[in-house]
Amino acid sequence: MDKLWGGRFSKETDQLVDQFTASIFFDQKLAAYDIEGSIAHVEMLGSCGILSDGEVKKIKDGLLEMKRKAEKGELHYRQEDEDIHMNIERSLLDAIGPVAGKLHTARSRNDQVATDMHLYLREKIDEILSLLLQVEKEIVEQAKKNVETIFPGYTHLQRAQPISFAHHLLAYFWMFERDRERYKDSLKRVNWLPLGAGALAGTTFPIDRFLTAKKLGFDFVYPNSIDAVSDRDFILEFLANSSILMMHLSRLAEELVLWSSQEFQFIEIDDAFCTGSSIMPQKKNPDVPELIRGKTGRVYGNLIGLLTVMKGLPLAYNKDLQEDKEGMFDTVITIEQSLQILAPLLRTMEVRKERMAEAIRTDYSNATDLADYLAKKGIPFREAHDITGKIVYYAITKKKSLLELSLNEYRSYSPLFEEDLYQAIDPRQVMAARNSYGGTSPEQVAVQLRLAEERVRTNP
Ligand code: ARG
Repeated sequence: MDKLWGGRFSKETDQLVDQFTASIFFDQKLAAYDIEGSIAHVEMLGSCGILSDGEVKKIKDGLLEMKRKAEKGELHYRQEDEDIHMNIERSLLDAIGPVAGKLHTARSRNDQVATDMHLYLREKIDEILSLLLQVEKEIVEQAKKNVETIFPGYTHLQRAQPISFAHHLLAYFWMFERDRERYKDSLKRVNWLPLGAGALAGTTFPIDRFLTAKKLGFDFVYPNSIDAVSDRDFILEFLANSSILMMHLSRLAEELVLWSSQEFQFIEIDDAFCTGSSIMPQKKNPDVPELIRGKTGRVYGNLIGLLTVMKGLPLAYNKDLQEDKEGMFDTVITIEQSLQILAPLLRTMEVRKERMAEAIRTDYSNATDLADYLAKKGIPFREAHDITGKIVYYAITKKKSLLELSLNEYRSYSPLFEEDLYQAIDPRQVMAARNSYGGTSPEQVAVQLRLAEERVRTNP
């Protein structure tokens, strides 16, 4: 079968080369975007008087027919036609005859493929933004129900200070807010149009790239044709933003795994979102958060993969750039699936408030407040810290919590202790006392929640 570029060749391409260089197996995902770009291009060629109205109409009708076929999965792809661009052009040729050959006027696959990916990512980033917003909404809903839920806050995975469970959940909300900001910001650069850059140097035809940009909804046109065809920053940014998002998702996933374990029992993941073991009948496994955690690896890999492809590439287009696609597609699917499944998992998980409260009752996470109690009575904090440390040590040897020691026991460490110390180290009081802006007191968490609700409502 003749290659669309076969004129200069005296031999058939080796089968292995066809196989090795073809991208149609994966870039067929770009079909709709490729057609969209072609329609805008051919209309522009018409407006600029480069093609006649009749030619534009024939090509456009043909492309619309391709689009319908692509949507129904009726477009036939052939490896010999290498990639999505030449496959579509070939189908167009079969459908409307030689006039199809005019579509590629003033265009190269180099600016075409770059345009396709800009269009593709713009749409996918929008999808991801709304999926992420949905996860944020679920976090806000859980937070609303748990402002007063007392929960052991950790440092070094050791109980540190009692906090509001809503406060802990909302920490993830703000991570995801920054993720959304990053994606939104990246859209500014996704919205640059490469088309019209030609192979690398521009074109001899009197085209209007700004018209094409307008038709495709781009708000900036690459001012340098070389940069236009060789830039993949917008994909790298997407992969980098996605890596940071996956890192956040993975941290949350790790906590969900821990919290649902026998050791913690802080949450119960709904049966519908867990799986069983083929050998141990009692098992209920948190496969979903485990897989979210695990899939983080491939997203990082996709970023490092493309960074490495780009490193040291001479200008302008090189076939290496074809390697930009699979990692990008894989990242889109991974992010979308992870967000899609996380939202209902968060919505349906049961928060075991009594277990959380129980954890607080038996630990020493109110020790800071005992030290603060003494410090407020004038003892330098360092000294108060030391006295409190000794009291904690004593309590551990007596197998008692700080609330269970008697006033006399306290007085043997400092005469400054009085009856009101019990109030000061009561876990609820401990939580409520951290009333500085951004702190864990229910009052401050309510302020934070209002801010979060405002964000998900107005989607700024
Ligand atoms: N399939 C190619 C890619 O994805 C399209 C551009 C090919 N251009 C070329 N001159 N070989 O990068």
